[in-house]
Amino acid sequence: MNRKKIALIGGGQIGGVLAQLIAQKALGDVVLFDIVEDMPQGKTLDVAEASRIDQFDVSLKGTNDYKDIAGSDIVIVTAGLPRKPGMSRDDLLTTNAQIMKQVAEGVKENAPNAIVIIISNPLDAMVTLFQKVSGFPHNKVIGQAGVLDSSRFSTFIAWELDLSVKDVNAMVLGGHGDTMVPLTRYANVNGVPVMEMLEKKYGDAAKAKEVMDAMVNRTKMAGGEVVKLLKTGSAFYSPAAAAIQMTESILKDEKRLLPSCVYLDKEYGAGGYYVGVPAVLGENGVERIVEVTLDDEESAAFQNSLNAVRSLVADMERLGF
Ligand code: APR
Repeated sequence: MNRKKIALIGGGQIGGVLAQLIAQKALGDVVLFDIVEDMPQGKTLDVAEASRIDQFDVSLKGTNDYKDIAGSDIVIVTAGLPRKPGMSRDDLLTTNAQIMKQVAEGVKENAPNAIVIIISNPLDAMVTLFQKVSGFPHNKVIGQAGVLDSSRFSTFIAWELDLSVKDVNAMVLGGHGDTMVPLTRYANVNGVPVMEMLEKKYGDAAKAKEVMDAMVNRTKMAGGEVVKLLKTGSAFYSPAAAAIQMTESILKDEKRLLPSCVYLDKEYGAGGYYVGVPAVLGENGVERIVEVTLDDEESAAFQNSLNAVRSLVADMERLGF
């Protein structure tokens, strides 16, 4: 059998949607791993029993044994606690770092050639830790944040301009926290700058800026907005959809330019940190990092976000990880 194999570490809310999307898109066989007994087996059985309806032939296996992930092409990690109302992503650091360390050891031992996409929060720190513990090459350990943050920003723009989100191109860079940097100057609708459209809509540059600022702020707080409404967990449909777009680009070698949490050495003057920037994702994982020209204000915002990531990683190191 020549199908791709995708292991999902963490069979909670996001893990379940990931399994369903992979099956529906027939991207490959799924192994869903969780430490909770029977639950991943139950979830995969449930998804598999929709195969006649959704017309897919991929196999789905739930497991509590890391050995079952052997030979995986892609591993997507959602293991860890989600936020509760009032919590920041950074509040999850200690608990999720302990979990991520175990996960990295399990993946290293059982799927040493996989390309890994991390979703667990606090994202930038979790990606850093996974890479450090596993020792996997940097181009094969990637974080999902930017695709989702950019989709959120694009959705708000489409609603504001009352047009199809399919034509909106907007990107969010930086860390996956309140300091993230939605690039307003580059945001466009099939090439037409969003700022220009807002100025025409309101006939007033100051009002247009105010509307854009509100969309930027909503984007930065979008995860928290969902947490506050759900009360028992955090977003799960959209993070899963975002990771699937990255997975598809890698498995099909599409070489899409997707904002991703990637390791930056000299690029963006980051000096050895994982942070969100546009990257070409293909069969080798991160194949290229694209440096966007930033003006002074954008550059300052990016540096501020990078500093937030640096201090999060320093906190994690102080905790002994
Ligand atoms: N190994 C594997 N799985 C684990 C481990 C571990 N050591 N510890 C916990 N888990 C599992 C839990 O049993 C649970 O099923 O991780 C799963 C997490 O699922 P949910 O609690 O439903 O969380 P989810 O909404 O899927 O979010 C997961 O992604 O977006 C981030 O902030 C979010 O960090 C959170 C993660």
